Amino acid sequence: MEALKHKILEAGRVLPGNVLKVDSFINQQIDVELMTAIGQEFADRFADQQIDRILTIESSGIAPAIMAAQALKVPLVFARKRKSLTLSADIYATKLFSYTTQQYTDVMVDKRFIQPGEKVLVIDDFLANGQAVEGLIDILNQAQATLAGVGIVIEKSFQPGRQAIEAKGFRVESLVKIASLDDNQVQFSE
Ligand code: G4P
Ligand code: NA
Ligand code: NA
Repeated sequence: MEALKHKILEAGRVLPGNVLKVDSFINQQIDVELMTAIGQEFADRFADQQIDRILTIESSGIAPAIMAAQALKVPLVFARKRKSLTLSADIYATKLFSYTTQQYTDVMVDKRFIQPGEKVLVIDDFLANGQAVEGLIDILNQAQATLAGVGIVIEKSFQPGRQAIEAKGFRVESLVKIASLDDNQVQFSE
């Protein structure tokens, strides 16, 4: 997606530790025009699928997911993060491991918001190690819903997330793929 590549080159900042800061247009201040185009791009890429719902995770997955839900005219649900979770019969819950902080986060979705048999598109802002997406896939399995595919705004292709998801047989559509952030330079994959 050329507009997104341009914005990353213009306004993204590479921080130590292979982190791409996009807080001036995606993660804190939001470029709504660009985000609307991102939603439409997801809708176009998954136009061949009969999607019933979008699932994302708070907080920074919500903006692109809303735009995709708007374009596809389907409901959106986001998984909530909790420091610790009291298990209940009313929720689907899973744990995400963060390689960055070396800690687990509990994540939950109320059972009322995913129906068995639904075909669900997962959306997130970044794909790095893939822990967030794998957690959402776990929740969909618990719900007996089907994963239609995974839509990612920015894929860090030098980290193992895509491989892990593809190894499970799922389709990943990333709007931009970053091959390297070495030497404070953004190198796109294609
Ligand atoms: P993973 O989900 O792919 O396994 O990611 P990882 O544990 O490596 O990263 C943890 C958090 O950092 C995730 O956000 C992920 O989206 C984000 N992240 C990973 N790489 C980058 C990057 O280069 N730049 C930015 N800006 N974020 C990155 P999160 O914990 O879900 O937080 P949030 O959605 O509430 O912001
Ligand atoms: Na995220
Ligand atoms: Na984030």
